[in-house]
Parts: sequence; structure tokens; C-alpha cells
Amino acid sequence: MSQTDKSAPNIESVLHEARVFPPPKAFARGAHLKSLAQYRQLYRESIQAPERFWGRQAKDELVWFRPWKKVLRWNEPFAKWFVGGRLNVCYNCLDRHLGTPTANRAALVWEGEPAAPGKPGEERVLTYQQLHREVCQFANVLKRNGIAKGDRVIIYLPMVPEAAIAMLACARIGAVHSVVFGGFSAQSVADRICDSQAKLVITADGGFRRGSVVQLKKNVDEALGLRDASGDRLAKSVQRVIVLRRAGNDIHIEEDRDVWWHRELEYVGAHCPAAQLESEHPLFILYTSGSTGKPKGVLHTTAGYLLAARMTTRYVFDLRETDVYWCTADVGWVTGHSYVVYGPLANGTTSLMYEGAPNFPEPDRFWRIVEKYGVTVLYTAPTAIRAFMKWGEDWPRKHDLSSLRLLGTVGEPINPEAWIWYHRVIGAKRCPIVDTWWQTETGNIMITPLPGATPTKPGSATLPFFGVLPEVVDDQGNPVPRGTGGKLVIRRPWPSMLRGIWGDPQRYREVYWSEIKHSYFTGDGCRQDPDGYFWIVGRIDDVLNVAGHRIGTAEVESALVSNSKVAEAAVVGRPDELKGQALVAFVTLKTDVHATPELRGELRDHVAKEIGPVAKPDDIRFAEALPKTRSGKIMRRLLKQIAAGTEIKGDTTTLEDFSVLARLSQAEE
Ligand code: WTA
Repeated sequence: MSQTDKSAPNIESVLHEARVFPPPKAFARGAHLKSLAQYRQLYRESIQAPERFWGRQAKDELVWFRPWKKVLRWNEPFAKWFVGGRLNVCYNCLDRHLGTPTANRAALVWEGEPAAPGKPGEERVLTYQQLHREVCQFANVLKRNGIAKGDRVIIYLPMVPEAAIAMLACARIGAVHSVVFGGFSAQSVADRICDSQAKLVITADGGFRRGSVVQLKKNVDEALGLRDASGDRLAKSVQRVIVLRRAGNDIHIEEDRDVWWHRELEYVGAHCPAAQLESEHPLFILYTSGSTGKPKGVLHTTAGYLLAARMTTRYVFDLRETDVYWCTADVGWVTGHSYVVYGPLANGTTSLMYEGAPNFPEPDRFWRIVEKYGVTVLYTAPTAIRAFMKWGEDWPRKHDLSSLRLLGTVGEPINPEAWIWYHRVIGAKRCPIVDTWWQTETGNIMITPLPGATPTKPGSATLPFFGVLPEVVDDQGNPVPRGTGGKLVIRRPWPSMLRGIWGDPQRYREVYWSEIKHSYFTGDGCRQDPDGYFWIVGRIDDVLNVAGHRIGTAEVESALVSNSKVAEAAVVGRPDELKGQALVAFVTLKTDVHATPELRGELRDHVAKEIGPVAKPDDIRFAEALPKTRSGKIMRRLLKQIAAGTEIKGDTTTLEDFSVLARLSQAEE
């Protein structure tokens, strides 16, 4: 599907629009919300009297040390929610369950990557009681290593329970965590340390991925040595590194700087009171790609984020006491924050964590886990679903998936074919599907069906969650008629909205609140159908969504031109059957450098080194020149068409040099 063509409804979607799947009766009977009318009533209330609505929710849902005085203080674009209140996210995820039957329930069930086909992975189960103890101990380790309220901590770990423990321990003492996905490079780690001025890094000797060891500690060592253009060490704010023994590989330990996680535990007790933090105390910074420059540090704070995490998890996944809930995201992404750690734990649910890939050692890895643990709710990405479709139905059919009762998807638009396959093959036509739209910036799910109440349509995220007021508008901010494409904006502040970009309020205002007056601009194209259902088309800015990962074209371009052989680079997306979008880089080389297949490999590796393997271009095309307008702007629209192999359409009259186009189209493979 084309991400630029906002106005034309996708033909697939139109064909499927007529197909409506009502909530299965058996499901709706036990659901929190049982009818669309019930949803509409609550939604209406949340929009008409937001402060009353959110005030009531905050009181009912969260445990407070001190009540708030004012629900919302809005000074556009800066929001303060639950002003004057005090609470603690970790307390709300753990302590509140102690002394209740939940205390001895599994909080985290973890399965490590298996060694070989047929072999189970390593396993670990932590009850709420046990997790509480481990978090308190580790919080004491943080304090012992000089971390206090407000300090920033980088977490660069594999998908192991310690990742959640480290996050919760930070939250407990009011330290601000910034989790960096293990697939990012040393350079990316250094950039994040530098921007956040973190004092501490928590990492592991290594993590397992598809049978090999990811050298996390080695990357951290490298990151700590990297220098900027003026020769200054980028990561000089870091005073300590805590290293988890995970893969058992040989690593370097720097005296006076690096300490072992397990050793540190020997020095601390298990008593650590939860800090009484203000509602707006920073909880975490998560770096995410935008249309320009380096990734931005999206800031989330305590009360509003927690409230939305708890509510969305319960309503969207219709949590019940017997659930074994599995969100397959890595904690390095926002989905892992809200729906592996904070949302499920705040509800006292069992959250499953899996370390490995869906097809290692065999493509039935997920289904084996569903069967083994009796997973009831599965939340994954369209990319994974499309891969499962490709691998064939035999893999899921080998397993008993009858425990599943609800399926979810997130991260990119799901094509109706994948939706229907998921529904039929994995859900046996019995499980409702929740297609959830949201972003790192929104903190929590924003547009989604509520499974007992909302009839679903394959490919549509359906209707807004409580308190969320989305609208599809034209460039001037006027709502467009239903059926017409436009920009997706959110008209009102909501509790889990980002509070800003770390250290850069001006950029926050410019990126999100300037495009459309008095509205938060999402960067997504969208259309509402006659029933008011939202159909997200995809990004309309220069952000790509490759296999559910957000990648900024500008970042990849600057990584490419940082190679001494490259003169210019332009990166665009092309539709990809599996990954949604693939990265295509058009590159011009410096004089006397020759385009060779080896150079192509070299440049791909160079990008992996600069940003991380997730950003490797799928395709590098060498060109003699890039098409530009007379004012020197690269004509991305044309490059997208060339990358997609479609005919070149539209106005090319401002093109500086027509012959470039012809040469580009031929400059191939
Ligand atoms: C896209 C991930 C269509 C969208 C939670 C958004 C989706 C970006 C959906 C945010 C969905 C996410 N349907 N598109 N259900 N969910 N997106 O910050 O383009 O990694 O702007 O957050 O993913 O990606 P992010």
C-alpha cells in the first residue's frame, strides 16, 4: 500500500470494508464491556466531561500516597495530569498485589531461546512476591551505585526477566530509565547516553539470538569510548556499568567502572520503600525516530502513563483472572514497556516474556509456547503474522492452540488477508482480534476495538479508546468528509501523552504541535469510513515502518554519507509483502569510487554499525546523480516510484535534470 497516496482508499480495504465481525457471543458474555452502546456511553462521558471521567478512573484504578488536587493543567502543548498527587509506578505494579491472592500468582513467565529443535528453552517463573523481592534488592543495588531520584539509567539487555526488574527498580526509586533495544549499535547507545546524560548503564555479557550471541557488553565498551567530532567522549556521563551474567561469553571488565549484577546483590537487603513521587515525575525516556535528525527522547511521566497502561491493558485485552497473557514485543520498544511490563503487572496478570525469534530453531516456536503455557491472549505484529502465513499452516496446526481466546496486533497497518488468516488459523474463528493503533509518543493504545463490544473490520483499528479524540483533517486542519483521506491528529491532551522531547521543548512543539493548529500531529495518514471507523494508511512523513520498527530516512541517509566513499544518499520505502516496507537507498559515490557488489555489502554493514542491524537497507542502488528540484531538494516522490518499480507519475517539470531519471531507472542490479 502506498504511504503517500493519502486520498485513495486502498482497494483491498474497500473490498473488505463490508465484512464485519461482531464480537462472538460467548466472548461478550464474560467481557468487561458487553455492547457497543455501553462503549459509546462511556466514551461520550470521557469526551464531554474529561476531568470528571479521568478523576474517577484515577481514584478507582491506582493506589495513591497522596491524592491529586487538579486533574489536568493544560498549557498547550504542555500537559500536567493529576497535579499535586503522589504515587509510585513500581508500587502500583507490585506492592499493591502483596497480601492478596495475586501475590503468589506468576507475574513473569520467561522462556529463553531454545538450543535446538524440539528442545525447550530455559524457563523461569517469578510470582508477584518473588518479583517484588528481586526488584527491591536491585533497587538497593542502584542506590549503592550512586543512583538517586531523577538520575537517568540506560538499560541495554536481552529479553530476560532482569530487563523488567531493572525497569521496575528504577521506577521504585524515581530513577528515569531509557531502554535501548539490543539490536542497536554502540554508536546508538553512545548517542542515547549523551543525550540523556545517563550515569549508569545496565547490560549483559551477551544475549542469544538465533543461536548466536549478541555482544552487548562489547558494544557498551565501544560506546563508552566513542568520541564526537571535537574529540570529546560522547558517553562521559557514565560512571558505572552493571553487567548481568547471561550468555557466559568472555568479556572485558573495567576495574572501578564495571560491576557484576550477581555480586552486587550480595551487598544489599531486600527492603526498599517505594519513593513517593509526584504525578509528573519522569518515568522513562524512549528514543524513537522522526523525520529529521537523530532519534528523539520521548518522555513519559508517572501517573497518566500508569493509569492508561492499566486501563488499556484491562479493557483492550479484556483481562480475566485466569489469563496467561503474551505480548511478543521486545522491552526495547514502547510496546514492551506498556504491554509486557507496566500494563500487565499493574493489573496483576501473568505476563509471558520470550527471548528468541519466532522461527528459531523452527517456525513453530510461538505455537509451541502457546501450547506449553496455555497462553490465552496473544499480542503480536502484522509482520510476524505475514511470516507465519508464508511458513504455512502446518506449523500452527501441529499444536493445541485452544487456550487462546483473544488476539491482538500492533505496529503497522495489518492487511486484511493477514487479519483473516490470523482469525481463521490461529484464532480458529473463535477469538476476536484487536488491531491497536498507537505510538511511542501516545504511550498507550489510542484506537482499538474493545473485544466484547466493538464489531471489527479486517484492516481497521476501529474506534478511539476513552478520552481520545482523533480526527482526520486536511492540511489546514479542517475535518475531511468520511471516506476521504487526510492527516490523523488528536484534538485533546490525554493522560499518557508524551510530556515532551528530553531536553528540547522547542522541538517537541515544532514536531507535534505546529503542523496542525491546536492539535497533536501523529505523522500518519488515515481515513474514516461511513461508520466512523479509522483506517490507518501509514506514515506520511519521512519515517518508515520496516517490520514494525520505526526508522527515520534521515538517520539512514546520514549514516550512509558518513562513509567516506559516499557522496550523497536518499532513502525511501518500497512496499514489501512481508515487512510492510523495505528500505531502499539511492547512493551516489565520490569520484573514483566504483560501484561494486562488495561495496553494496560494505555500505549495508556500515549502516548496521552506525545505527544497528534493524536499519540495514534492503536494497542499495548506485546512481550517477539524484533527481532534484531546481532549488536542490531531492525528489523523494520519484525515488519512491522508482523503488517500487511503478510508472513515474505526476509533475516532473521542476526536475533539474531530466536525464537523471532515465539513468536512475536503469541503474539497477
Ligand atoms: C504505526 C508502536 C496501523 C503507525 C506502538 C504509528 C500502526 C507508528 C498501528 C508508531 C496499527 C502502529 N495500524 N499503523 N494498529 N500501530 N502503527 O512509535 O504508523 O514504534 O505512527 O509505536 O506505527 O510506531 P511506534
